[in-house]
Amino acid sequence: MKAMVVFALMLIFGVFSADLPFSSAQTIFNVLDYGAKADGKTDDSNAFSAAWKAACSAATQNPTVVVPRSKDFLVYPLTFQGPCKSSNISFQVIGTINAPSSPSAWRGRNSRRWLIFHGVTGLLITGNGTFNGHGSEWWDLSCTDHPNMAGCATVIPMALNIISCKQSTISDIYTIDSAKFHVVVNQSSDILVENVHVTAPESSPNTDGIHVELSQNVLVNNSVIATGDDCVSIGELSSNITVSYITCGPGHGVSIGSLGKYGNSVKVEDIHVKKINFKGTTNGVRIKTWQIGLGYVRNISFEHITLESVKNPIYIDQYYCDINGTRGNCEPKSTGVHISEVTYDDIVGTSSSNTAINLNCSQSVACTGIHLSSIKIESDKSGKQVISECTNAHGTNSGVVQPKSCLQS
Ligand SMILES: *[C@@H]1O[C@H](CO)[C@@H](O)[C@H](O)[C@H]1NC(C)=O
Ligand SMILES: *[C@@H]1O[C@H](CO)[C@@H](O)[C@H](O)[C@H]1NC(C)=O
Ligand SMILES: *[C@@H]1O[C@H](CO)[C@@H](O)[C@H](O)[C@H]1NC(C)=O
Ligand SMILES: *[C@@H]1O[C@H](CO)[C@@H](O)[C@H](O)[C@H]1NC(C)=O
Ligand SMILES: *[C@@H]1O[C@H](CO)[C@@H](O)[C@H](O)[C@H]1NC(C)=O
Ligand SMILES: *[C@@H]1O[C@H](CO)[C@@H](O)[C@H](O)[C@H]1NC(C)=O
Ligand SMILES: *[C@@H]1O[C@H](CO)[C@@H](O)[C@H](O)[C@H]1NC(C)=O
Ligand SMILES: *[C@@H]1O[C@H](CO)[C@@H](O)[C@H](O)[C@H]1NC(C)=O
Repeated sequence: MKAMVVFALMLIFGVFSADLPFSSAQTIFNVLDYGAKADGKTDDSNAFSAAWKAACSAATQNPTVVVPRSKDFLVYPLTFQGPCKSSNISFQVIGTINAPSSPSAWRGRNSRRWLIFHGVTGLLITGNGTFNGHGSEWWDLSCTDHPNMAGCATVIPMALNIISCKQSTISDIYTIDSAKFHVVVNQSSDILVENVHVTAPESSPNTDGIHVELSQNVLVNNSVIATGDDCVSIGELSSNITVSYITCGPGHGVSIGSLGKYGNSVKVEDIHVKKINFKGTTNGVRIKTWQIGLGYVRNISFEHITLESVKNPIYIDQYYCDINGTRGNCEPKSTGVHISEVTYDDIVGTSSSNTAINLNCSQSVACTGIHLSSIKIESDKSGKQVISECTNAHGTNSGVVQPKSCLQS
């Protein structure tokens, strides 16, 4: 009897606070509580892994892994594995998570990816913290930039990988200096990437901002991306992808592709790119396919786009053949990816090259259903004219199209 009174009093006075190991009620999983040192030198991987495992197996609503403020964490390649018990799980980053900077630190580990979230449903990666890939030593080894260097690296880590996830969001985070792609969404569906900031030097090789592949129902919205490669790139077997409200540059623009590199059958459709500001990029909106590719790219739109000194503002390149970082000799092939139903609407601004519109379609499988409307692109040099060039490109124009359209009917 007495014991029960004491127990009741303990409950009333809140003796059982969140600090007690009542893990079934726990919602916050702070990596510091799992042994992270956060001194920027000690390997914090085990603490991150333990915090994730505890959160992922918690039965509470929305368990949250917290990476706290003003701390420097060092994390080696790590997989955060799902599925998790709760229908939602958050990974909140306020501090900075650093990758090891020396490529030799990756020896014996998977040097293709740094952080992987795999098989998670209802994942939210958020916070105003930073993922720092410390990629500069990798860039110096990259075969893309150093094709003739003995021992150059072709397998280079991509920073934040969302693989086989569903109904998940990445928002607000900063990702900087990845060794290769910054954010990869692969084999996933119903994904929102919003308010992210991606930064790497203009000269850094293959540092794409956000890469989406083998995925459906993805929205990449309201983000600022400045890197050495594509701001957003869309790869094989992707559909219903929207990319909107992006500030892009420096970098290589927004790309669908490259596709069909291995002679495979491409299926990419329902891709909508709108409200993009390109600043000093090498390309604006680009579709690039390999001559040996098969299959299709269809139902694509590029709308409400502004350009400031963009080298190739509107570009279809069906002769892509990047060999060791330089454009190789691509002998003519009898194959090709069929590009159809591509709309370019309301695209205005300046080009830094003479060719503002370049629709270089396959000699074997022509582009069809290209629509150009409300296009006004001028040279960024006063008094200079820009032109359109079309090869095997069929479709229609409406409204102002400047430079004058060269589409065949
Ligand atoms: C779980 O996540 C989904 C997708 O982000 C969201 O629609 C839903 O409201 C979330 N539920 C809870 C309880 O947070
Ligand atoms: C980052 O987020 C934390 C927690 O939400 C907040 O306290 C802090 O003020 C934010 N810092 C900045 C620079 O926005
Ligand atoms: C996406 O996943 C496929 C299948 O596992 C893999 O072959 C491909 O390399 C991945 N792409 C990226 C960019 O990680
Ligand atoms: C396309 O994706 C969006 C998310 O970006 C989703 O809201 C919409 O339902 C999807 N459409 C179809 C037809 O699945
Ligand atoms: C995308 O971002 C813009 C700009 O912040 C916002 O107005 C719009 O509602 C967002 N779109 C969606 C579908 O969330
Ligand atoms: C094109 O894509 C949009 C949005 O994903 C979709 O609503 C529409 O049905 C598609 N059109 C065709 C002809 O497939
Ligand atoms: C189209 O691609 C072919 C093959 O790479 C190239 O020779 C040609 O110059 C390109 N045309 C234009 C207008 O860029
Ligand atoms: C590309 O680079 C690799 C590694 O340096 C080399 O073995 C290969 O011969 C190069 N290929 C071409 C076509 O230059």
